[in-house]
Amino acid sequence: MNQPVMSGVAALNVPAHVKHQKLINWVADIAALTKPDSIYWCDGSEEEYDRLCAQMVAAGTMKKLNPEKRPNSYLAWSDPSDVARVEDRTYICSATREQAGPTNNWMDPAEMRRTLHGLFDGCMAGRTLYVVPFSMGPLGSPIAHIGVELSDSPYVAVNMRIMTRMGKAVYDVLGLDGEFVPCVHTVGMPLAAGQKDVPWPCNATKYIVHYPETREIWSFGSGYGGNALLGKKCFALRIASNMGYQEAQLGGTGWLAEHMLILGVESPKGDKKYVAAAFPSACGKTNFAMLIPPKAFDGWKVTTIGDDIAWIKPGQDGKLYAINPEAGYFGVAPGTNDKTNPNCMASLRENVIFTNVALTDDGDVWWEGMTKQAPDHLIDWQGKDWTPALGTKAAHPNARFTVAATQNPVIDAAWDDPAGVPISAFIFGGRRSTTVPLVTEANNWVEGVYMAATMGSETTAAAAGQMGIVRRDPFAMLPFIGYNMSDYFQHWLNLGKKVEAAGTAPKIFCVNWFRTGEDGGFVWPGYGDNMRVLKWILERADGSSTGGQQHLFGTSPNYADLNWEGVDFTEQQFTQITSIDKDAWNEELKLHSELFEKLAYHLPQELVDTKARLEKQLAA
Ligand code: GTP
Ligand code: SPV
Ligand code: MN
Repeated sequence: MNQPVMSGVAALNVPAHVKHQKLINWVADIAALTKPDSIYWCDGSEEEYDRLCAQMVAAGTMKKLNPEKRPNSYLAWSDPSDVARVEDRTYICSATREQAGPTNNWMDPAEMRRTLHGLFDGCMAGRTLYVVPFSMGPLGSPIAHIGVELSDSPYVAVNMRIMTRMGKAVYDVLGLDGEFVPCVHTVGMPLAAGQKDVPWPCNATKYIVHYPETREIWSFGSGYGGNALLGKKCFALRIASNMGYQEAQLGGTGWLAEHMLILGVESPKGDKKYVAAAFPSACGKTNFAMLIPPKAFDGWKVTTIGDDIAWIKPGQDGKLYAINPEAGYFGVAPGTNDKTNPNCMASLRENVIFTNVALTDDGDVWWEGMTKQAPDHLIDWQGKDWTPALGTKAAHPNARFTVAATQNPVIDAAWDDPAGVPISAFIFGGRRSTTVPLVTEANNWVEGVYMAATMGSETTAAAAGQMGIVRRDPFAMLPFIGYNMSDYFQHWLNLGKKVEAAGTAPKIFCVNWFRTGEDGGFVWPGYGDNMRVLKWILERADGSSTGGQQHLFGTSPNYADLNWEGVDFTEQQFTQITSIDKDAWNEELKLHSELFEKLAYHLPQELVDTKARLEKQLAA
């Protein structure tokens, strides 16, 4: 062992600190299949990061930004065909179709393995296979899980160093026989001898495949975001949601892997609470997680635990505790500026990888909404000269930044705490220009689950496909649930029974920042002003605010219940975004029925009953 072993293609070159024979054998097997020119074991060091970045600069994959403007930062432009997650190419290959459920693409695992075997055969020719060991969650924490990604993309290797705890120390945790989730990734563009590479290799054929039974991930053809950084959506949501469910099936309490931000709020009296909020992709999680309260909230502090993913488990005291399994943010750039998210802008001052934003003439970055006025000249995300007169977007709408969580000026002191933080409220929110009020508290856990299960949202550029159409996005998990959606609802209901019995159930809320007025613009100011709603949520959660307006599906505040100091927002505007339109809700409930028909298999009866009750009330 630990001798250079010939895999038949490239020398394995196993470093002395890697002693896990099963892992070594697996790397050898994947190398024999994918046939890379060489194998490189990442150690996660800064020296390695700098070296790989320099190598990508030389290859034309990345540009080094002006160190005076943006120290130690890089810009990558992807292929124009590879700019977002590919939901229609994403598969949950469980043993049966029912286990994946009607919201996921499914293929028989044996058949998928045959397909992928053909595609992966020789797919890394001419490239280096990077062995990327990572931990989701603090290293060695009892709730963390280890993964190893084998990828032929150095872009993936450096992004994983920011997004996860990546490097040598992972092998200490793994030891001789520790468990890890094997993740295989290729851009799917083998190079023939002498063939020149392109700046962003990828393949028109794409497969993002999960085998829940064996907890494996295989990704082919894309180098972008959630398609390629396999610790994120593939592992921390799809595989992890399945793990948490399976644990309950085996008689344990079970746990949750959610598409949620986690934030802390401290009152001027020093009272600290944590909430978790699920919004669909590009619907405001990063913004909410870094919110700066308006002046009227002097002494209030919002701090970030996480901006995208939460793993949630009941603790000894019966409360639900959440951790952020990630170590960085892969956030949406467009729309981010010193007004909408100053903490995010501060996080991006240095040590950032930008992808698909525009390049300024002085070697810095720009994106739509970064400044009121666009620069006179830019190089757009496709490498072309750009002026405002063109009328095109200089940055891709799903352009993103990768940055370490530790650069966030309002990072919560407990963000890295393996024990997690206790959750006082769950918030669900879609992007809805009509129908759904600003904020509603569910009457109880079951109705909260109903609210989350039936959530709709207008689609965004975060996924390939048509934008701006309302689709049902249960729990903001539609693209991310690793098993049957109806079983997932039941899992939430079951967990609710436990926390309700313990008297520790967080209250559940639904928000909508996106109602539009006659001019088509958003009525609600949003961003920092979301604090006004957050404060009401906390007061409801601890019982200090009572009253409010009872309506069809819960309680919303009266105008007088929110603090309006420092903002010009009239009672009439408030009514405009909190009103319940009967006709719109009749239509909405029809869409709930459509969803429930699709999810009929294993759909919890409690949710069916809740819908019947709502329909009766609405008809009355
Ligand atoms: P993913 O990383 O894709 O999961 O998304 P996210 O939920 O973290 O998205 P992010 O916070 O980056 O949201 C980006 C988009 O939401 C941008 O278009 C913002 O302008 C918009 N946005 C965020 N907060 C608000 C808000 O309070 N009001 C309005 N109107 N828009 C908002
Ligand atoms: C999302 O789409 O919800 C993201 C970005 O957080 S990605 O990692 O690309 O999925
Ligand atoms: Mn996300």
